[in-house]
Amino acid sequence: MNRPHPVQTPSAAQPDRPDQPARDPAGTHDGLPGATVASSTALSGAASGEAVVSLSRAEVRVGGRTIWSEVSLQVPAGEFVAVLGPNGVGKSTLLKAVLGLVPLADGDVRVLGERPGRRNARIGYLPQRRAFDPATRIRGVDIVRLGLDGDRWGTPLPARLRGAKGRADTDRLHQVIETVGATGYARRPIGQCSGGEQQRLLIAQALIRRPELLVLDEPLDSLDVTNQASVSALIQQVCRDQGVAVLLVAHDVNPILPYLDQVIYLAHGGAVMGPPEQVITADTLTMLYGTPIDVLRDRTGRLVVVGQPDTPPDHRLPTTHPGTRPAAPPRGRR
Ligand SMILES: Nc1ncnc2c1ncn2[C@@H]1O[C@H](COP(=O)(O)OP(=O)(O)OP(=O)(O)O)[C@@H](O)[C@H]1O
Ligand SMILES: [Mg+2]
Repeated sequence: MNRPHPVQTPSAAQPDRPDQPARDPAGTHDGLPGATVASSTALSGAASGEAVVSLSRAEVRVGGRTIWSEVSLQVPAGEFVAVLGPNGVGKSTLLKAVLGLVPLADGDVRVLGERPGRRNARIGYLPQRRAFDPATRIRGVDIVRLGLDGDRWGTPLPARLRGAKGRADTDRLHQVIETVGATGYARRPIGQCSGGEQQRLLIAQALIRRPELLVLDEPLDSLDVTNQASVSALIQQVCRDQGVAVLLVAHDVNPILPYLDQVIYLAHGGAVMGPPEQVITADTLTMLYGTPIDVLRDRTGRLVVVGQPDTPPDHRLPTTHPGTRPAAPPRGRR
């Protein structure tokens, strides 16, 4: 299949309930199997001590099928890392493995120095989309607040009855809403907010507990180009200003390209990680897919991948896939 198309992962299956907190509440999945440690094939040169997420020869099987294997990578603190690849290749599964929601079949994962799931209270999670019904009456500000207390049962006491803690929570709520630029519409019912406004509020929810790691599954899905750029810039700013590492699954790499530090490209049951200009090349993607791939730039500078095969029903093709590797050395822009 030689149809050209942008480097992208198609949108959304698997809708998650929009009324749930966008964060796995406070490590509730701690009991799930997970594992340890890391080896780095990233090209950033980050020392292992700085890695927020480390996978070492990791393998995941779902429904008796290997989704990916031999995946080794490291996400350094404070870096903005995109997860790319075709539909069904296992991008969301990678995020779920990091959160401890999907066990490894082999290899190791370490997240914030612990087994996956142990540090979920320090991770902000935005599941894959999630559309609010226009009739949803809950206000944006209440959706954001769920990030603070959505994992507790019962109706929260009013802030004024919760003393200093309540005041601090309210201050944080306003602060994080301001950070994402949502002050103007946060008191509207979320169902009446635009897709971009909803995304900003959900990002605020993921940010409210000052996470060290943001795990965002297609947060730019359904946004127009302008909003994709402004939300990407916002996420980069959070990385830079607050030192938060970001793992973001993207449908299309082009809008986020100016903001990224590294990409993880999943394909053919394996992965490659490195700076975008080294990963999204004909050499690297040909190595990853095991079939000739070309990478072009169109007249507007957008990256276009040519020759990307469909994801096979069995992600593990009969040939030996490459596992995670450093990207091929750059040969100049194509
Ligand atoms: N609970 C499940 N049972 C069986 N197969 C599953 C289950 N969850 C996911 N899969 C399969 O695992 C594979 C990887 O799914 P995943 O959602 O991680 O893909 P993805 O790369 O995020 O795709 P998309 O771009 O469509 O979001 C898919 O083939 C999917 O059908
Ligand atoms: Mg997905």
